Amino acid sequence: MTETVLITGGAGFIASHCAVLLLRQGYQVRALDNLDVQIHGVERRPPAYLDKRVELIIGDIRSPRVVKRALVGADVVIHLAARVGVGQSMYQVADYTDVNSRGTAVLLEAMVERAKRRPFSRLVVASSMSVYGEGLYRTAAGTLAPSVERTPQRLKAGLWEPTDASGNLLEPLPTPETKPVSMGSVYALSKYDQERLCLLVGRAYNIPTVALRFFNVYGPHQALSNPYSGVLAIFAARLLNNRAPLIFEDGEQRRDFVYVGDVAEACRLALRCDAAIGRVFNIGSGRSVTINQVARLLADTLGVAIEPEISGECRMGDIRHCFPDISRACSVLDYCPRTTLEEGIGKLVEWLDGRVAVDRVGEALTALASRGLTV
Ligand code: UD1
Repeated sequence: MTETVLITGGAGFIASHCAVLLLRQGYQVRALDNLDVQIHGVERRPPAYLDKRVELIIGDIRSPRVVKRALVGADVVIHLAARVGVGQSMYQVADYTDVNSRGTAVLLEAMVERAKRRPFSRLVVASSMSVYGEGLYRTAAGTLAPSVERTPQRLKAGLWEPTDASGNLLEPLPTPETKPVSMGSVYALSKYDQERLCLLVGRAYNIPTVALRFFNVYGPHQALSNPYSGVLAIFAARLLNNRAPLIFEDGEQRRDFVYVGDVAEACRLALRCDAAIGRVFNIGSGRSVTINQVARLLADTLGVAIEPEISGECRMGDIRHCFPDISRACSVLDYCPRTTLEEGIGKLVEWLDGRVAVDRVGEALTALASRGLTV
């Protein structure tokens, strides 16, 4: 029998890739999305990249009536709906909390009600690497340092690398799911809310739930004109407008960029794998790179000779290094990231061809600086 999947945030970048993959697997796909202006533009039209076979319901995740309707006949749910700007979350506190946390609560109440008549076989919730704050580190003496934070004083002095209490530099290590969480932004806190709410309510009401902590996801369909989206989309928007990418700090901070197709595959696996129920998984590529490296790779692949500009600025709440240990996802989910950064950036660049991006980075930095949210 054909299974129906409801994807919340279903007109978004990650959702569009999940939809194609799941359609190919024989699922019927329904999307619930409010076509947020920041992502979809003032016209709020359904995006051209969304597969025509997807049944799109336009509405808000916070509306019990809309969510109830979206759940009719659904067997599984992938919950991706969220506001996603880290910096913006620090001044639109009520809205981020409302959409992400309360929106998830509304979804869960509706699922619990519906499950009385017909159970769900899975709920997959998109959590985030942001719940870790700084990643895991090791001291020079070889002990693990799981609760590192950078002080504003050091950041103001341009001392970007975190140190131990005696001022010795720390070595960043792959972060496992067992590292204690440490939320540094309203966005991060709301993603943790989403993750915990889904696991807790799922467990109480027998809705088999899996949480995926996505690292830095990139690829085609990423919102180019949203200055709060991921760094690769932001750099692409700058380069398409013949402007230099602005690199914060010194560009030596490390991240794991995971291709969106691999993230969609992780979602598919989470729908199927019973051993994953009730657990959280890091979803990354398994390789870390610096922001300088990724800026150069993007410019080279685009074939533009614009040097990135090191701004020496730092956004409040930004972390220095965080990249995942993905061994749990590999062994339990059978997750195996297939797209290398070079291939993935190649696909991003192909998609960028002929596209127009409005570069709003200056606007976003001014918005943050005027609120004292940059260092
Ligand atoms: C954050 C969140 C992550 C979320 C992602 C996209 C944390 C720890 N993680 O990741 O969950 O999915 O945002 O919303 O909060 N950078 C520049 N120039 C720019 C933009 C960014 O140098 O114009 C740098 C940042 O300082 C950072 C790195 O690039 O060091 C990555 O930034 P970004 O893509 O915003 O993602 P994260 O902060 O890693």
